[in-house]
Amino acid sequence: MPLHHATATLHGSDHRANPMHSLNNPALQEELVLPTDRLGDRPIPAETAYQLVHDELMLDGNARLNLATFVTTWMEEPARRLMTECLEKNMIDKDEYPQTAELERRCVSILANLWHAPDQDRAIGCSTTGSSEACMLGGLALKRRWARRRGAAGGSATRPNLVMGANVQVCWEKFCNYWEVEARKVPMEGERFHLSAEEAVARCDENTIGVVAILGSTFDGSYEPVAAIAASLDDLQTRIGLDIPIHVDGASGAMIAPFLDEDLVWDFRLPRVASINTSGHKYGLVYPGVGWVLWRDHDALPEELVFSVNYLGGNMPTFALNFSRPGAEVVAQYYTFLRLGFDGFRTVQRASRDIATDLADRIGQLGPFTLITRGDELPVFAFTTGPDISAYNVFDVSRRLRERGWLVPAYAFPENRRDLSALRVVVRNGFSHDLASLFLEDLSRLIPELDRQDGPLQSPDEGSAFHH
Ligand SMILES: Cc1ncc(COP(=O)(O)O)c(C=O)c1O
Repeated sequence: MPLHHATATLHGSDHRANPMHSLNNPALQEELVLPTDRLGDRPIPAETAYQLVHDELMLDGNARLNLATFVTTWMEEPARRLMTECLEKNMIDKDEYPQTAELERRCVSILANLWHAPDQDRAIGCSTTGSSEACMLGGLALKRRWARRRGAAGGSATRPNLVMGANVQVCWEKFCNYWEVEARKVPMEGERFHLSAEEAVARCDENTIGVVAILGSTFDGSYEPVAAIAASLDDLQTRIGLDIPIHVDGASGAMIAPFLDEDLVWDFRLPRVASINTSGHKYGLVYPGVGWVLWRDHDALPEELVFSVNYLGGNMPTFALNFSRPGAEVVAQYYTFLRLGFDGFRTVQRASRDIATDLADRIGQLGPFTLITRGDELPVFAFTTGPDISAYNVFDVSRRLRERGWLVPAYAFPENRRDLSALRVVVRNGFSHDLASLFLEDLSRLIPELDRQDGPLQSPDEGSAFHH
């Protein structure tokens, strides 16, 4: 979360209720003026409070037109109904809500099966608030296992490092910062926008707790070559005896590849893959916030990280950073699994990918833009302005699209390719062919206007408030 300063806003900001609220309520004789930055003195009617907050939120963007987010922005009515029915349930109260706990267990089991855990009875996992928490847990297990290995070998366990591409999502930088692990980031190079097997292995040593491979890079939607990374780490082990596990960050891709890329081997079929996370609230098709992390077996999750909570008079193992968490999203995840089944998921994800590839193609054909990816891995693609375009840049395009309500982030790539800035479109369930055509029309309409500019109006520094 952003850290907020407690200072009052620049222009002072009292709420002033519509006079009709006072007219309707004889208890409110005067105009209702309420402070926004401290508690008011007295309660106000619920409807008045609702209206004030509701009206203010009209300034938010339209979530369905938000092509920046990977997070679900549309669910069916029955799913919303179930979530409303579960709003008050706390996920941690396993004893009080044993059936919600059972649905969570079933989801873990479904994912273990989907990700080909070799022995379903030995796979273990849990729900989280999202992939960020899931990655923290995956990383902590890697770190603890490495410390044990180092201890057993009589080595020091004071300088752990984690190998990853410079394209990692910020949660991995947070993990390394918070838990004092050196982040060994492989920079992008030329047209290589994510981690390669050779570059990963070249950075591994006896202090490497693991390698993070991303199935679905946040920058451009491309899959990292998990199997090739695993093969190179196998080779490293044969050569010098270092046994380095992989965590697959499948925040998005772990819910796409099983349905659309069945021949791609990236999951627990690779013995070196110790753990996998995904965001239930991304291509798991559930509203925010639910994520999942699974370990291939008990050996991959050191026992000392696991706590017990009371459960039906017994004890249930838990591993989490949070204690209380909403149960509704976990229930909605189970609903989604039950509702869609394998074929339903495949149909929904394929529709998103078809729309992404089709829209990418059509944007490529417009002329001024060069595609970086085509939407054929994650249903996500990135594009930039072509070499002949000097009148405007991607930040101008992003800003102008906003005028029509489209939220499309523009951002600079990380080290070694900071010269490259791109726009990214995330196609999710609910972004239809119709909406894609409207988007393309708006984008095409902008080009002649942008061409008339004397030069770019936005610089990368001021152009985007986008964070990975
Ligand atoms: C690859 C990757 N990992 C982790 C995350 C963090 O996920 P969450 O928003 O579920 O915490 C994201 C979010 O976009 C992501 O793309």
